[in-house]
Amino acid sequence: MGAERQNYTHEILLSEDLIRARVKELANEISQDYKGKKPLFIGVLKGSFIFLADLMRELDPEISAEVDFMAVSSYGRGTVSSRQPKIELDLRIPIEDREVLLVEDIVDAGYSLEALIALLSVRNPKSLKTCALLSKKSRREVEVPIDYLGFEIPDLWIEGYGTDTAEQNRGLKNVVHRKPS
Ligand code: PRP
Repeated sequence: MGAERQNYTHEILLSEDLIRARVKELANEISQDYKGKKPLFIGVLKGSFIFLADLMRELDPEISAEVDFMAVSSYGRGTVSSRQPKIELDLRIPIEDREVLLVEDIVDAGYSLEALIALLSVRNPKSLKTCALLSKKSRREVEVPIDYLGFEIPDLWIEGYGTDTAEQNRGLKNVVHRKPS
């Protein structure tokens, strides 16, 4: 039977409430660390768009955060890392002397974050930190720093809250484990 005809069930891995609470905690921590600064949040498309939107709305309004986006693709519609992430969209503004926070939905093998850090650090930001909602440490092939991490998760097929399966299900409110039924 073709994969497209396989049926699946969803088991909640991280509930909407749990995610909301953790995002709030991360936002508080980030607000403390960037007090008096004007950070630039860089959302890594597509996966981070929901997390970034929620994170920014939980920030202390005193923080004058700006936002821009990059797009990087490692997996396309497949499930195996290309190991050579392709930068599909670059920033529209210079980051020299800026306090930059890269925001990812998930760090898996690590190649995407590694490529982004390499690309951005040569542009001489004042600081460059990273934030990811999810990490699958057991899948890591290159070591990358995650300064703010939402959840360490097991190596399961997940989707929702920005993460996808072949571009589907990004809008699910929970992060779910997708299981063949
Ligand atoms: C996903 C995710 C990260 C990357 C992590 O992007 O959003 O950017 O993979 O994987 P890695 O640590 O193994 O490099 P994907 O290529 O699926 O694109 P998307 O964000 O548009 O879904």
